[in-house]
Amino acid sequence: MADELKRGLEGVLVAESDLSYVDGEVGKLVYRGYDIEDLARGASYEEVLYLLWHGSLPTAAELDSFAVDLAAERDVGDDVIETVRALADAGERPMAALRTATSMLSAYDPDEESDDDGEATLRQGRRITAKIPTVLAAFERVRQGEAPVAPDPELSHAGNFLYMLTGTEPDAVSEETFDMALTLHADHGLNASTFTAMVIGSTMADVYSGVTGGIGALSGPLHGGANQDVMEVLHEIDASSKDPVQWVKDKRDDGGRIPGFGHRVYKVKDPRAKILEEKLRDLSESSGDTKWLDYTTAIEEYLTDQGLVEKGIAPNVDFYSGSVYDSLGIPVDMYTPIFAMSRVGGWIAHVAEYQEDNRLIRPRARYTGPEDSEFVPLDER
Ligand code: ACO
Repeated sequence: MADELKRGLEGVLVAESDLSYVDGEVGKLVYRGYDIEDLARGASYEEVLYLLWHGSLPTAAELDSFAVDLAAERDVGDDVIETVRALADAGERPMAALRTATSMLSAYDPDEESDDDGEATLRQGRRITAKIPTVLAAFERVRQGEAPVAPDPELSHAGNFLYMLTGTEPDAVSEETFDMALTLHADHGLNASTFTAMVIGSTMADVYSGVTGGIGALSGPLHGGANQDVMEVLHEIDASSKDPVQWVKDKRDDGGRIPGFGHRVYKVKDPRAKILEEKLRDLSESSGDTKWLDYTTAIEEYLTDQGLVEKGIAPNVDFYSGSVYDSLGIPVDMYTPIFAMSRVGGWIAHVAEYQEDNRLIRPRARYTGPEDSEFVPLDER
């Protein structure tokens, strides 16, 4: 029905896409037909980027050349690093610093604005995807009073980020864990940030604008910001004398929401949460430190007993990702930027796909304001 109001665009179909499919009833996620579980366990983030951007999984030779081309774009100029330093000195939050720096990167892009042939979106997208980890790692290091670490083109996308963050090459388990997290977050249908990037792309604005807008949308606590919120809750519980169940009970009694639970599409446990939970279990058992695993398990069990999960408010990807990042020594306020570092692959794929058969996105609102207001000149009001 043309005039039916769909608040929050819930369930509204606005495009066709070959990229990812989310079945919220059974808890399934696929990228171009491949189950997320197979990709998380078997494919690198670079393979997933190739799949999203080029339509099929790469052969070994295609992957080699794709990974080399991506790694070759990692450097950012001194001006960008100086801006990142100024933002850190001003106490800017990481997501806001990333938003500003990503916008700035366009100044140094060799493509002309007029190169809007579709391929330009992917070329520019590759540069943005390669440079975002460099920007983020530099931001984290300068705010800790350390010198930025230059990217190493020999390392994988995941391994290089951890290297630039810490100055030390990561061990195989850390690299593989982080790579899996990047794969899990790479795309997810028309979530709020992807839709934001698409709306911007539908005006045929450049992809830097779309990605900058996507970062802004992802930063909110109802979307990407929830992974940080979950970890802050776990720290708050740890610092208090309450047990996790009591904390959650009090929060709910106050009418508060539990971060990491609920999802617009999933009515059962998010498949990405299941994979990360298993990862957290492995990491906790091998390190012997099971604190975050114990807390999250207790919270999930309690909310399941309370019937919340049965009502469709189940753990989402953010419920477990923070604890996994914590095991890698990543600071809490970098969790959402890391989400952006992965999801940028999906934003670019969706913008490129949508622009192939572009139609300006322009919905409308039902007008509920006054009618026939009589204008009174300023000096008579
Ligand atoms: N804790 C407690 N109750 C909840 C939660 C939660 N986390 N999420 C939803 N509910 C309840 C609401 O209070 C509401 O109850 P009511 O009908 O009695 O008023 C009902 O579930 C439906 O909630 P809506 O807000 O209408 O559902 P919506 O689809 O708009 O919300 C959202 C989805 C925003 C993700 C919500 O579940 C939420 O706020 N979760 C916490 C934040 C979070 O984890 N966000 C990350 C999402 S995943 C991602 O972006 C990667």
